[in-house]
Amino acid sequence: MMSIFDKFQQLVATRLELEKSCDKFFNIVMEEIISGTEAIVNGRPTILAGSNNYLGLSFDTDCIDAACDAVRKEGTGTTGSRMANGTFAGHLALERELAEYFDRQSAIVFSTGYVANLAMLSTLVGPGEVILLDADCHASIYDGCRLGRAEVHRFRHNDPQDLEKRLRRLEKRDTNVLVVAEGLYSMMGDRAPLVEIVAVKRAYGAYLMVDEAHSLGVLGKTGRGLAEEAGVEDGVDFVVGTFSKSLGAIGGFCVSNHPELDLVRYASRPYVFTASSSPSVIASTRAALKILQARSELRQRLWENANLLYNTLQNLDFAVGPEASPIVAIQLEDKAEAFALWSGLLENGVYVNLVLPPATPDGNCLLRSSVSAAHTPEQMARICRAFTAVRELTAVPQAV
Ligand SMILES: Cc1ncc(COP(=O)(O)O)c(C=O)c1O
Repeated sequence: MMSIFDKFQQLVATRLELEKSCDKFFNIVMEEIISGTEAIVNGRPTILAGSNNYLGLSFDTDCIDAACDAVRKEGTGTTGSRMANGTFAGHLALERELAEYFDRQSAIVFSTGYVANLAMLSTLVGPGEVILLDADCHASIYDGCRLGRAEVHRFRHNDPQDLEKRLRRLEKRDTNVLVVAEGLYSMMGDRAPLVEIVAVKRAYGAYLMVDEAHSLGVLGKTGRGLAEEAGVEDGVDFVVGTFSKSLGAIGGFCVSNHPELDLVRYASRPYVFTASSSPSVIASTRAALKILQARSELRQRLWENANLLYNTLQNLDFAVGPEASPIVAIQLEDKAEAFALWSGLLENGVYVNLVLPPATPDGNCLLRSSVSAAHTPEQMARICRAFTAVRELTAVPQAV
């Protein structure tokens, strides 16, 4: 008899094969959390070099105190949608604070960054309209496109000329076009060529959305992301982002100067049909947003750590991405070698993420590390030593 799970047979076979090469890979549990940068993994203290805790705020005392106060005063959850009983004063305050910080007219807070993309893309652009997205965009962007049933075309990663070619083809169509890019790309940590993208989108009268998930708190004079760093905030119609990285919590948002942004609330299924963020999450996010603005030294420390790791891996001849960033990824063609490096790092007390195709941009395996402002100089030295140790253990990693 047929089983509903038959379609997963290929997946099961792949998993079994991968387990043979590296059974630890499927059984990673953070058994005890010591701090934002350290946990007990497989019974041993391990430095976390794979989280997106860029400013190290998940353990900040102000954020923790704010969350504890909120949970005591307002309970563990809102138990309702933003459209019903789930809008508390804190949600509105955070929306005001985000709009003010980004210097935009309005902001909407969503339950996660994934939901923010799902909500914005599925609502803004529908059947008969067009989305042009960078091929390396995050899965949540692709899923938002699917949910809205817009016509979707991908342009080559970080290639404004390819974008222009596609916009030119659409020129005679009387329809809305939304271009989507990310600030820092989540896998390789490379920046989008935003100045060029903004110039192209302006020339063709398209709209532009930038997902600053990995660049909020990381890029720009005040941490607003790549659009701020590149000086093109005026050219970005919608900024989306998440609270789950630099802000150390969970949640998502969109800010915009389009006065109609508020309409999304009424038309968006991912906004209406899910519970709103719990009060403690909103409270810690508000505290984190204040710290992000007040303590630029965190961004400076983050970049010192980012440059140190990038330069170390480059000097060790690993095939790293095109530019230094808090995301430092090594590309590897060979799965066995990727597993060996990943296990070797773990044995040396360092956890990084191993990302396998098809989740990677170009079909290679990725050893994706990320650093935090909270990594101490000693921890950074241990991370660098671990990479040096595994580099000596394995065959010479080939530049891809
Ligand atoms: C570019 C990008 N957008 C959105 C998301 C989703 O954010 P969240 O984890 O808050 O749902 C991620 C998550 O990694 C991401 O990398």
